[in-house]
Amino acid sequence: MGFLDSFNMSSVTDALKGAGLGKLTGGGGSVVGIDIGTSAIKVVQLRNEDGAAVLETYGELSLGPYADIEIGRATALDVDKLAEALRDILREANVTTKACGVSIPFASSLITLLELPEVDTKTLKTMIPLEARKYIPVPLSEVQLDWFVVPEGDLKYLSKEQQEGEGQDSKPAAAQTAQAKEEEEPHGPSIHVLLVAIHNEVLRKFNTVLQGAGLSPSFYEIEIFSSIRASLGRGIAPIIILDIGAATSKLYVVEAGVVRATHVINRGSQDITLTFAKAANIAVTRAEELKRTHGLGGTDETGQLLERFALSSMEHIFAEAERSVAAYQRRYQTSIGQVILTGGGSTLQGLLPVAKKKFEREVMMANPFKKVATPAFLEDILEQAGPEFAVAVGLALRKLKE
Ligand SMILES: Nc1ncnc2c1ncn2[C@@H]1O[C@H](COP(=O)(O)OP(=O)(O)OP(=O)(O)O)[C@@H](O)[C@H]1O
Ligand SMILES: [Mg+2]
Repeated sequence: MGFLDSFNMSSVTDALKGAGLGKLTGGGGSVVGIDIGTSAIKVVQLRNEDGAAVLETYGELSLGPYADIEIGRATALDVDKLAEALRDILREANVTTKACGVSIPFASSLITLLELPEVDTKTLKTMIPLEARKYIPVPLSEVQLDWFVVPEGDLKYLSKEQQEGEGQDSKPAAAQTAQAKEEEEPHGPSIHVLLVAIHNEVLRKFNTVLQGAGLSPSFYEIEIFSSIRASLGRGIAPIIILDIGAATSKLYVVEAGVVRATHVINRGSQDITLTFAKAANIAVTRAEELKRTHGLGGTDETGQLLERFALSSMEHIFAEAERSVAAYQRRYQTSIGQVILTGGGSTLQGLLPVAKKKFEREVMMANPFKKVATPAFLEDILEQAGPEFAVAVGLALRKLKE
């Protein structure tokens, strides 16, 4: 179990419980959260000062140029290029610490909620790998497994519903890669276990990138848990986090701080840029620039064209998200009142009212820097940029609390 131990992945538990919302207790020093997205790397360095997180520096670097494509687009870079980009952003953002936490893309992970009979911990330890085999499409020797028993009480209603065994769309914590096989219903008291797996190859790749930038991460964390820590308040009501990235958008249903269901939408903010550039017959770089500076609400011909394509992409994402949420509500007879938007795509100017209308729920932008002490003069800028930095802030917060 070399990877698990050396990467300390086992403490995902902290995030799963929805911790990270309390007072910081860790020792002093600085820490940097590193979010290597497909289109950009985001870093946030925090310091623990008397139990409060203080912002030291932050920065973002577009990966497009490292792949010879335009900024704002998703890339698939090799480890050398990623290491080069990471070195560049660490230097440009004046990151001064080597203590770091790094996110693992949701797409490279597998998260499943299992219902198992209530047994003692020893039996559970032998039972989980056996169960895991049903969900994990590769040999278990090729992945790092981690699991966590969801606290009793949190999921009571879920057991009841699962026994009715309906619903197709939003499976509980359905992993996008796992084709969960039909389970025999357990008899007697049951427990729920959140199972998390990451392929060894993914961890190896990340480790090489980090080494290439002179770092050795204290932990890796699947981005979903970092987002939750950075975006959520203390409430236990079910909410949605919708992370609008470059090529895809990710939806997480979170209740009492625990992820219950996930869904990936194959649309992101780059779709706006690419479709708009083509229609307006302008360079992709120019289209990206116009998207970022003008957003929705343009009045001239180009602005209206931008708005048309921006709305088309975003409404597609919201509609698919809403269908997934509706399926979850039906299945678990619950009501989800709030949607929190994260990711660079959600910072499109004028998007919030569109989202509110589409969801007919309370919609808000994630404001992760609210959990951090920041200079007053930066407050507005950080509130605007916040959604993009949710994962990086969440990572740094976790490390500070350790
Ligand atoms: N001000 C802005 N207005 C509109 N869109 C923006 C703005 N800033 C960034 N974006 C878009 O956000 C997208 C990148 O978002 P983000 O950085 O969250 O993606 P990522 O983390 O690289 O992607 P993923 O999480 O899917 O790997 C890009 O497509 C970019 O064009
Ligand atoms: Mg991202």
